[in-house]
Amino acid sequence: REYNVAILGATGAVGRRMIDQLAKSTIPVKSVKLLASSRSAGTVLKFRDQDLVVEETTPESFDGVDLVLSSAGGAVSKKFLPEAVKRGAVCVDNTSAFRMEPDVPLVVPEVNPDALKEHHGIIANPNCSTIQMVMALEPIRRKFGLKQIIVSTYQAASGAGQAAIEELKKEAQDYLDGKDMQADAQILPTKGDKKHYPLAFNLLPQIDVLEDSGYSHEEWKMIHETKKIMLNDMNAKDIKVTATCVRVPVPIAHGESVYFTVEDESATTQDIMAAVADFPGVVLEDDIKHQIYPQPINAAGKRETFVGRIRPDYENPGAFNMWIVADNLLKGAAWNTVENAEYLVKMNLI
Ligand code: A2P
Repeated sequence: REYNVAILGATGAVGRRMIDQLAKSTIPVKSVKLLASSRSAGTVLKFRDQDLVVEETTPESFDGVDLVLSSAGGAVSKKFLPEAVKRGAVCVDNTSAFRMEPDVPLVVPEVNPDALKEHHGIIANPNCSTIQMVMALEPIRRKFGLKQIIVSTYQAASGAGQAAIEELKKEAQDYLDGKDMQADAQILPTKGDKKHYPLAFNLLPQIDVLEDSGYSHEEWKMIHETKKIMLNDMNAKDIKVTATCVRVPVPIAHGESVYFTVEDESATTQDIMAAVADFPGVVLEDDIKHQIYPQPINAAGKRETFVGRIRPDYENPGAFNMWIVADNLLKGAAWNTVENAEYLVKMNLI
Protein backbone atom coordinates (compact mmCIF):
# COMPACT_ATOMS: atom_id res chain seq x y z
CA ARG A 1 0.00 0.00 0.00
CA GLU A 2 1.12 3.57 -0.77
CA TYR A 3 0.21 6.64 1.28
CA ASN A 4 -1.01 10.16 0.50
CA VAL A 5 0.97 12.35 2.88
CA ALA A 6 0.41 15.98 3.94
CA ILE A 7 3.06 18.06 5.70
CA LEU A 8 1.51 20.87 7.75
CA GLY A 9 3.98 23.71 8.38
CA ALA A 10 6.09 22.57 5.42
CA THR A 11 7.96 25.88 5.07
CA GLY A 12 9.25 26.00 8.66
CA ALA A 13 12.61 24.92 10.11
CA VAL A 14 11.12 21.56 11.11
CA GLY A 15 8.71 21.27 8.14
CA ARG A 16 11.51 21.52 5.56
CA ARG A 17 13.36 18.77 7.37
CA MET A 18 10.18 16.65 7.49
CA ILE A 19 10.09 16.83 3.68
CA ASP A 20 13.70 15.65 3.53
CA GLN A 21 13.29 12.92 6.17
CA LEU A 22 10.14 11.64 4.44
CA ALA A 23 12.06 11.51 1.15
CA LYS A 24 14.74 9.36 2.86
CA SER A 25 12.26 7.18 4.79
CA THR A 26 10.99 3.67 4.11
CA ILE A 27 7.37 4.93 3.88
CA PRO A 28 5.84 4.10 0.47
CA VAL A 29 4.66 7.55 -0.67
CA LYS A 30 1.97 7.94 -3.32
CA SER A 31 1.65 11.73 -3.10
CA VAL A 32 2.85 14.63 -0.95
CA LYS A 33 0.91 17.80 -0.18
CA LEU A 34 2.77 20.76 1.35
CA LEU A 35 0.63 22.98 3.60
CA ALA A 36 1.36 26.28 5.35
CA SER A 37 -0.37 29.64 5.84
CA SER A 38 -1.48 32.05 3.10
CA ARG A 39 1.86 33.89 3.62
CA SER A 40 3.85 31.20 1.86
CA ALA A 41 1.19 29.71 -0.45
CA GLY A 42 2.74 29.46 -3.93
CA THR A 43 6.27 28.78 -2.66
CA VAL A 44 7.88 25.88 -4.58
CA LEU A 45 9.74 23.22 -2.57
CA LYS A 46 11.29 19.93 -3.70
CA PHE A 47 10.25 16.42 -2.57
CA ARG A 48 12.84 14.05 -4.09
CA ASP A 49 13.01 15.36 -7.68
CA GLN A 50 9.43 16.69 -7.76
CA ASP A 51 8.64 20.44 -7.55
CA LEU A 52 5.67 20.94 -5.20
CA VAL A 53 3.70 24.13 -4.68
CA VAL A 54 2.89 25.04 -1.05
CA GLU A 55 -0.86 25.45 -0.43
CA GLU A 56 -2.78 27.44 2.16
CA THR A 57 -4.24 25.08 4.79
CA THR A 58 -8.02 24.59 4.93
CA PRO A 59 -10.04 21.69 6.41
CA GLU A 60 -10.57 20.42 2.84
CA SER A 61 -6.79 20.21 2.36
CA PHE A 62 -7.01 16.88 4.21
CA ASP A 63 -9.53 15.21 1.89
CA GLY A 64 -7.97 11.95 0.69
CA VAL A 65 -4.91 12.29 2.96
CA ASP A 66 -3.78 9.12 4.83
CA LEU A 67 -0.93 10.53 6.90
CA VAL A 68 -0.32 14.05 8.27
CA LEU A 69 3.06 15.18 9.62
CA SER A 70 2.57 18.48 11.39
CA SER A 71 4.75 21.21 12.89
CA ALA A 72 3.00 24.55 12.44
CA GLY A 73 2.46 25.50 16.09
CA GLY A 74 0.03 24.24 18.72
CA ALA A 75 -2.90 26.48 17.75
CA VAL A 76 -2.70 25.34 14.10
CA SER A 77 -2.62 21.67 15.18
CA LYS A 78 -5.61 22.16 17.48
CA LYS A 79 -7.54 23.75 14.63
CA PHE A 80 -6.70 21.40 11.77
CA LEU A 81 -5.74 17.94 13.09
CA PRO A 82 -9.27 17.06 14.29
CA GLU A 83 -10.42 17.99 10.76
CA ALA A 84 -7.81 15.65 9.29
CA VAL A 85 -8.81 12.81 11.66
CA LYS A 86 -12.49 13.35 10.73
CA ARG A 87 -11.45 12.76 7.11
CA GLY A 88 -9.71 9.49 7.99
CA ALA A 89 -6.08 10.60 8.28
CA VAL A 90 -3.60 9.55 10.97
CA CYS A 91 -1.57 12.52 12.27
CA VAL A 92 1.88 12.63 13.86
CA ASP A 93 2.02 16.02 15.56
CA ASN A 94 5.25 17.70 16.57
CA THR A 95 3.57 20.45 18.62
CA SER A 96 2.65 20.34 22.31
CA ALA A 97 -1.10 20.62 21.50
CA PHE A 98 -2.13 17.05 22.33
CA ARG A 99 0.87 15.60 24.23
CA MET A 100 -0.80 15.41 27.63
CA GLU A 101 -4.20 14.15 26.41
CA PRO A 102 -4.67 10.72 28.03
CA ASP A 103 -5.78 9.02 24.78
CA VAL A 104 -2.92 10.45 22.67
CA PRO A 105 0.25 8.33 22.59
CA LEU A 106 3.48 10.29 23.17
CA VAL A 107 6.11 8.25 21.39
CA VAL A 108 9.85 7.90 20.87
CA PRO A 109 9.88 4.76 18.69
CA GLU A 110 13.02 3.21 20.23
CA VAL A 111 11.58 3.71 23.74
CA ASN A 112 7.79 3.06 23.75
CA PRO A 113 6.69 1.87 20.28
CA ASP A 114 3.78 -0.19 21.66
CA ALA A 115 2.01 3.01 22.74
CA LEU A 116 1.35 3.63 19.01
CA LYS A 117 -1.21 0.79 19.09
CA GLU A 118 -3.45 2.90 21.36
CA HIS A 119 -3.82 5.81 18.93
CA HIS A 120 -7.17 7.36 17.94
CA GLY A 121 -5.86 9.28 14.93
CA ILE A 122 -3.30 11.54 16.62
CA ILE A 123 0.18 10.58 17.83
CA ALA A 124 2.19 13.26 19.63
CA ASN A 125 5.91 13.77 19.10
CA PRO A 126 7.56 14.72 22.41
CA ASN A 127 9.44 17.94 23.07
CA CYS A 128 12.94 18.02 21.51
CA SER A 129 14.80 18.13 24.82
CA THR A 130 12.71 15.27 26.24
CA ILE A 131 13.36 13.02 23.23
CA GLN A 132 17.15 13.07 23.41
CA MET A 133 17.10 12.62 27.19
CA VAL A 134 14.86 9.54 27.16
CA MET A 135 16.94 8.07 24.30
CA ALA A 136 20.01 8.13 26.56
CA LEU A 137 18.23 7.16 29.81
CA GLU A 138 15.87 4.39 28.63
CA PRO A 139 18.65 1.78 28.19
CA ILE A 140 19.85 2.63 31.71
CA ARG A 141 16.31 2.43 33.15
CA ARG A 142 15.74 -0.99 31.53
CA LYS A 143 18.95 -2.50 32.94
CA PHE A 144 19.43 -0.75 36.29
CA GLY A 145 16.19 1.13 37.14
CA LEU A 146 16.04 4.90 37.51
CA LYS A 147 15.26 6.75 40.74
CA GLN A 148 15.94 10.39 39.93
CA ILE A 149 16.85 12.64 37.00
CA ILE A 150 18.22 16.18 37.38
CA VAL A 151 18.76 17.84 34.00
CA SER A 152 20.10 21.19 32.82
CA THR A 153 19.67 21.92 29.12
CA TYR A 154 21.74 23.98 26.69
CA GLN A 155 19.18 24.51 23.93
CA ALA A 156 19.78 25.80 20.41
CA ALA A 157 18.01 28.83 18.94
CA SER A 158 16.34 26.78 16.18
CA GLY A 159 14.00 25.28 18.78
CA ALA A 160 12.12 28.59 18.48
CA GLY A 161 11.86 28.28 14.67
CA GLN A 162 13.71 29.48 11.59
CA ALA A 163 13.14 33.15 12.49
CA ALA A 164 14.99 32.66 15.80
CA ILE A 165 18.11 31.45 13.93
CA GLU A 166 17.98 34.60 11.78
CA GLU A 167 17.54 36.74 14.90
CA LEU A 168 20.60 35.13 16.54
CA LYS A 169 22.74 35.70 13.40
CA LYS A 170 21.68 39.35 13.12
CA GLU A 171 22.47 39.96 16.79
CA ALA A 172 25.88 38.31 16.48
CA GLN A 173 26.72 40.47 13.45
CA ASP A 174 25.53 43.64 15.22
CA TYR A 175 27.61 42.77 18.28
CA LEU A 176 30.72 42.27 16.11
CA ASP A 177 29.98 45.54 14.29
CA GLY A 178 29.75 47.37 17.63
CA LYS A 179 26.03 48.08 17.15
CA ASP A 180 23.20 47.75 19.70
CA MET A 181 21.88 44.19 19.44
CA GLN A 182 19.07 44.77 21.97
CA ALA A 183 17.01 46.27 19.14
CA ASP A 184 17.06 42.99 17.17
CA ALA A 185 15.38 40.91 19.88
CA GLN A 186 11.78 40.30 18.86
CA ILE A 187 11.32 36.53 19.30
CA LEU A 188 13.54 35.07 22.02
CA PRO A 189 13.24 34.00 24.76
CA THR A 190 9.75 33.17 23.52
CA LYS A 191 7.16 34.69 21.19
CA GLY A 192 4.53 34.01 23.88
CA ASP A 193 5.92 36.54 26.39
CA LYS A 194 6.10 40.34 26.57
CA LYS A 195 9.84 41.03 26.89
CA HIS A 196 12.52 39.99 24.40
CA TYR A 197 16.26 39.71 25.02
CA PRO A 198 19.27 39.11 22.75
CA LEU A 199 20.68 35.56 22.71
CA ALA A 200 24.01 36.28 20.95
CA PHE A 201 26.90 36.25 23.47
CA ASN A 202 24.27 35.62 26.13
CA LEU A 203 22.31 32.87 27.95
CA LEU A 204 18.55 32.95 28.54
CA PRO A 205 17.18 30.76 31.35
CA GLN A 206 13.65 30.89 29.91
CA ILE A 207 12.25 28.54 27.25
CA ASP A 208 8.51 28.94 26.65
CA VAL A 209 6.47 30.89 29.23
CA LEU A 210 7.20 31.03 32.96
CA GLU A 211 4.51 29.52 35.17
CA ASP A 212 3.29 30.33 38.68
CA SER A 213 5.01 27.13 39.86
CA GLY A 214 8.35 28.86 39.24
CA TYR A 215 9.19 26.55 36.33
CA SER A 216 9.18 27.43 32.64
CA HIS A 217 6.69 25.49 30.53
CA GLU A 218 9.63 23.76 28.80
CA GLU A 219 10.86 22.50 32.19
CA TRP A 220 7.33 21.32 33.00
CA LYS A 221 7.24 19.49 29.65
CA MET A 222 10.52 17.67 30.36
CA ILE A 223 9.23 16.48 33.74
CA HIS A 224 5.79 15.26 32.65
CA GLU A 225 6.65 14.00 29.16
CA THR A 226 9.55 11.91 30.51
CA LYS A 227 7.14 10.21 32.96
CA LYS A 228 4.48 9.68 30.28
CA ILE A 229 7.00 8.13 27.85
CA MET A 230 8.90 5.94 30.33
CA LEU A 231 6.10 5.05 32.79
CA ASN A 232 2.92 5.74 30.77
CA ASP A 233 1.76 8.19 33.47
CA MET A 234 2.57 11.92 33.31
CA ASN A 235 2.37 12.20 37.11
CA ALA A 236 4.15 8.94 38.02
CA LYS A 237 6.14 9.14 41.25
CA ASP A 238 8.44 6.16 40.57
CA ILE A 239 11.05 8.39 38.89
CA LYS A 240 11.68 11.89 40.24
CA VAL A 241 12.48 14.43 37.53
CA THR A 242 13.51 18.07 37.73
CA ALA A 243 14.81 20.37 35.00
CA THR A 244 16.42 23.74 34.25
CA CYS A 245 16.12 24.79 30.60
CA VAL A 246 18.49 27.38 29.11
CA ARG A 247 18.68 28.81 25.59
CA VAL A 248 22.28 29.11 24.38
CA PRO A 249 23.66 30.95 21.31
CA VAL A 250 24.00 27.80 19.20
CA PRO A 251 21.97 27.52 15.96
CA ILE A 252 21.30 23.75 15.87
CA ALA A 253 21.54 20.80 18.34
CA HIS A 254 20.70 20.82 22.04
CA GLY A 255 23.12 19.81 24.80
CA GLU A 256 22.01 18.38 28.15
CA SER A 257 23.86 17.79 31.40
CA VAL A 258 22.05 14.98 33.18
CA TYR A 259 22.60 13.78 36.75
CA PHE A 260 20.77 10.53 37.49
CA THR A 261 20.53 7.87 40.18
CA VAL A 262 19.90 4.18 39.55
CA GLU A 263 18.17 1.55 41.69
CA ASP A 264 20.88 -1.06 41.17
CA GLU A 265 23.88 0.47 42.92
CA SER A 266 26.17 -2.30 41.67
CA ALA A 267 26.05 -0.67 38.20
CA THR A 268 29.49 0.58 37.17
CA THR A 269 30.36 3.36 34.74
CA GLN A 270 31.39 0.64 32.27
CA ASP A 271 27.98 -1.03 32.64
CA ILE A 272 26.21 2.29 32.02
CA MET A 273 28.38 2.97 28.95
CA ALA A 274 27.72 -0.51 27.54
CA ALA A 275 23.95 -0.16 27.99
CA VAL A 276 23.92 3.25 26.28
CA ALA A 277 26.16 2.09 23.41
CA ASP A 278 23.86 -0.88 22.75
CA PHE A 279 20.66 1.15 22.35
CA PRO A 280 19.46 1.72 18.76
CA GLY A 281 19.80 5.33 17.63
CA VAL A 282 22.32 6.22 20.34
CA VAL A 283 26.03 6.73 19.69
CA LEU A 284 28.49 6.63 22.60
CA GLU A 285 31.11 9.34 22.06
CA ASP A 286 33.09 8.98 25.24
CA ASP A 287 36.87 8.82 25.12
CA ILE A 288 38.32 11.39 27.47
CA LYS A 289 41.90 10.30 26.75
CA HIS A 290 41.40 11.57 23.19
CA GLN A 291 39.06 14.48 24.11
CA ILE A 292 36.11 12.78 22.42
CA TYR A 293 32.68 13.98 23.56
CA PRO A 294 29.43 15.07 21.85
CA GLN A 295 29.29 18.59 20.39
CA PRO A 296 26.42 20.44 18.64
CA ILE A 297 28.48 21.22 15.51
CA ASN A 298 29.06 17.49 15.00
CA ALA A 299 25.52 16.35 15.84
CA ALA A 300 23.78 18.87 13.55
CA GLY A 301 22.39 17.11 10.49
CA LYS A 302 22.49 13.62 12.10
CA ARG A 303 19.59 11.43 13.21
CA GLU A 304 21.39 9.88 16.19
CA THR A 305 21.58 10.93 19.83
CA PHE A 306 25.19 11.33 21.04
CA VAL A 307 26.20 10.57 24.64
CA GLY A 308 29.48 11.12 26.47
CA ARG A 309 31.26 12.30 29.64
CA ILE A 310 29.63 9.43 31.56
CA ARG A 311 31.15 9.40 35.04
CA PRO A 312 30.17 8.45 38.57
CA ASP A 313 29.37 10.84 41.39
CA TYR A 314 32.17 9.61 43.66
CA GLU A 315 30.35 11.03 46.70
CA ASN A 316 27.01 9.30 46.07
CA PRO A 317 26.74 5.58 45.21
CA GLY A 318 24.47 4.74 42.27
CA ALA A 319 24.66 8.30 40.91
CA PHE A 320 26.16 9.40 37.59
CA ASN A 321 26.64 12.42 35.34
CA MET A 322 26.44 12.43 31.56
CA TRP A 323 26.28 14.78 28.57
CA ILE A 324 23.80 14.32 25.70
CA VAL A 325 23.67 16.09 22.32
CA ALA A 326 21.22 15.65 19.42
CA ASP A 327 19.97 17.66 16.45
CA ASN A 328 16.82 19.24 17.91
CA LEU A 329 15.32 19.65 14.43
CA LEU A 330 15.93 15.98 13.43
CA LYS A 331 15.76 13.49 16.34
CA GLY A 332 14.15 16.25 18.39
CA ALA A 333 11.49 16.92 15.75
CA ALA A 334 11.40 16.02 12.03
CA TRP A 335 13.14 12.63 12.20
CA ASN A 336 11.29 11.41 15.29
CA THR A 337 8.01 12.42 13.60
CA VAL A 338 8.83 10.57 10.36
CA GLU A 339 10.23 7.63 12.36
CA ASN A 340 6.92 7.40 14.25
CA ALA A 341 5.16 7.32 10.87
CA GLU A 342 7.55 4.57 9.66
CA TYR A 343 6.62 2.50 12.74
CA LEU A 344 2.89 3.15 12.15
CA VAL A 345 3.32 1.79 8.61
CA LYS A 346 5.41 -1.21 9.75
CA MET A 347 2.94 -2.00 12.56
CA ASN A 348 -0.04 -1.69 10.19
CA LEU A 349 -1.58 1.13 12.24
CA ILE A 350 -2.53 3.57 9.46
P1 A2P B 1 4.27 30.09 6.78
O1 A2P B 1 5.56 29.94 6.05
O2 A2P B 1 3.13 30.25 5.84
O3 A2P B 1 4.30 31.12 7.87
P2 A2P B 1 8.75 27.82 12.15
O4 A2P B 1 8.54 26.85 13.29
O5 A2P B 1 10.08 27.65 11.48
O6 A2P B 1 8.44 29.23 12.55
O7 A2P B 1 7.62 27.40 11.04
C1 A2P B 1 6.25 27.47 11.29
C2 A2P B 1 5.48 26.77 10.16
O8 A2P B 1 4.08 26.83 10.49
C3 A2P B 1 5.62 27.45 8.82
O9 A2P B 1 5.57 26.48 7.80
C4 A2P B 1 4.37 28.33 8.79
O10 A2P B 1 3.95 28.66 7.47
C5 A2P B 1 3.38 27.40 9.41
N1 A2P B 1 2.20 28.15 9.89
C6 A2P B 1 2.16 29.18 10.75
N2 A2P B 1 0.89 29.62 10.93
C7 A2P B 1 0.10 28.82 10.17
C8 A2P B 1 -1.33 28.73 9.93
N3 A2P B 1 -2.18 29.58 10.51
N4 A2P B 1 -1.77 27.79 9.08
C9 A2P B 1 -0.93 26.92 8.50
N5 A2P B 1 0.42 26.95 8.68
C10 A2P B 1 0.93 27.88 9.51
